[in-house]
Amino acid sequence: MPVQATIIGSQDRKLDELVRASGLRPTVASAVDLLTLTHPNSVQPDVLIMDVRPHGQIPTALSVLKRQHPTTSVILVASELAPALMLDAMRAGVNECVAEPLTAEQIGAAIGRIVAQRTAPVGGQVFAFVGAKGGVGTTTLAVNVATALALSDESTLFIDMHAAYGDAAVLLGTEPRFSLVDALENTHRLDLAFFNGLTVQSEAGVALLASSDHAPTSPIDVHRIRLLLDFAVRNYRYTVLDLPRSNPAMMDALEAAADIIVVTNQELASVRGASRVAGALSRRYGREKVSVVVSRFDKSADIGSSDIEQAVHAPPRFTFPSDYRLALQALNAGRPFVLDSSSKLASAVLTFTRTLNGDAGPEPAPSAPGALRTRLGARLGALRWMTS
Ligand SMILES: Nc1ncnc2c1ncn2[C@@H]1O[C@H](COP(=O)(O)OP(=O)(O)O)[C@@H](O)[C@H]1O
Ligand SMILES: [Mg+2]
Repeated sequence: MPVQATIIGSQDRKLDELVRASGLRPTVASAVDLLTLTHPNSVQPDVLIMDVRPHGQIPTALSVLKRQHPTTSVILVASELAPALMLDAMRAGVNECVAEPLTAEQIGAAIGRIVAQRTAPVGGQVFAFVGAKGGVGTTTLAVNVATALALSDESTLFIDMHAAYGDAAVLLGTEPRFSLVDALENTHRLDLAFFNGLTVQSEAGVALLASSDHAPTSPIDVHRIRLLLDFAVRNYRYTVLDLPRSNPAMMDALEAAADIIVVTNQELASVRGASRVAGALSRRYGREKVSVVVSRFDKSADIGSSDIEQAVHAPPRFTFPSDYRLALQALNAGRPFVLDSSSKLASAVLTFTRTLNGDAGPEPAPSAPGALRTRLGARLGALRWMTS
C-alpha cells in the first residue's frame, strides 16, 4: 500500500500541492471527518495533516483520535509555532509541526521523518551496498548477495539506485522495461500490483527495479526515495540496494537500511574513498550500521587488512577472494556465480550472506605483511587524521 495522507481542516490548495510535491497524493477531508476518524473501527490514514491555521487551536477530537489510533501520525500545520499551541500539540500526540511560510522542503522533511520512523522497527531488512570507488566490484557483490538471499525462498528485491546506466540488469540476466525513475515518479501509486509491473524477475527469483537507460529529467528527490524504501520494507523480506556514492539524495535516505556495506579493494584510492564514505555514513546513520568489506582480496597486496582497519577505524567485516574469470563469465552469461559455482568466491558470498541474515558470525580477516608497509602506513596514517 502507498503511504496514505489525509489533509483535514484546510481550504488551502497550496498545502495540497506541497504534499503532492513530496510524492504523496493526499485526500482532503473536513473537520467533521476528524470526528469519524476518532471511531475505534475507522480506517486510518498513515499521516494526518491537520491544518489549524484558520483558528489556531488543537481540536479536542485530535487527542481522542491519537488515543484510539496511536500509530496514526499527525503533522500539524500552524501559522506560527506559538509556545501554547506547541504544548497543546504535544499533549494531543502530534508528531510534527510545520509553520508559515510553508515550503515543499519543510513538508517533505516532516513526511520523510514520519516515514523513516514508521519504517524502522517493522518489516523486511534492507542491505545497502556502496562502492568506495567505481569498479571495485560493488554491483557484482550486491547482485550475488541478493541472489543468495532469494535462494532462501524469501521475497527479495534488488533496487539499482543508479538513476541511469546501472549494470544490475545485465548481471541478473534480465531485460527490464521500467526503472527506478518510473517508481520515483509514481510514489503515490506504489502498491504491489503496480510495483510488480515495474520490476522484472531474475532466474533465481530476485525482483529487480532496474536503473533507467536514459538520464532522468529532474534531480532525484530524497523524500521519494524514502517512500520507495518504506514500500520495499513493507513488502519484501529482503531489499538489496546498489548505491551510487555520488548522489547525495540517495545517501541521505538510508534510515531504513539495517546494514550499509562499503565495498573497497586494496588500492590506495579505494581505501581513501572507503575511509571518507564510511566516515560520512557512520556520522549520519551510526557506526554500528556501517561496515567495510574488501573485494578481490589479495593476501600479498601492499595494502593489507590492518592498513584498511587503520583507515576506516574498524577491521574489514569480510574479504572476498579475487576471481576475475568467474566474475566475468557470470557477467557475460547474466547468471550470478553463487548459483552454480563451487568456487571460493561463491562460497565467500554465501557465507557473508548468512552473516547478513543472522546465521553466522563474521569471518576473521587475514592480515598481510607487505614490503611497502612503512610508506603506505604513513600515507594511510595521514588519511586517518583527515577523517577522525
Ligand atoms: N571478486 C572479484 N574478483 C575479480 N573480479 C571481480 C570481482 N568482483 C567483480 N569483479 C570484476 O570487476 C569489474 C567491476 O565490477 P562491478 O561489480 O561492476 O564493480 P562496481 O559496481 O564497483 O563498479 C567487473 O569486470 C567484474 O567482473
Ligand atoms: Mg556498479
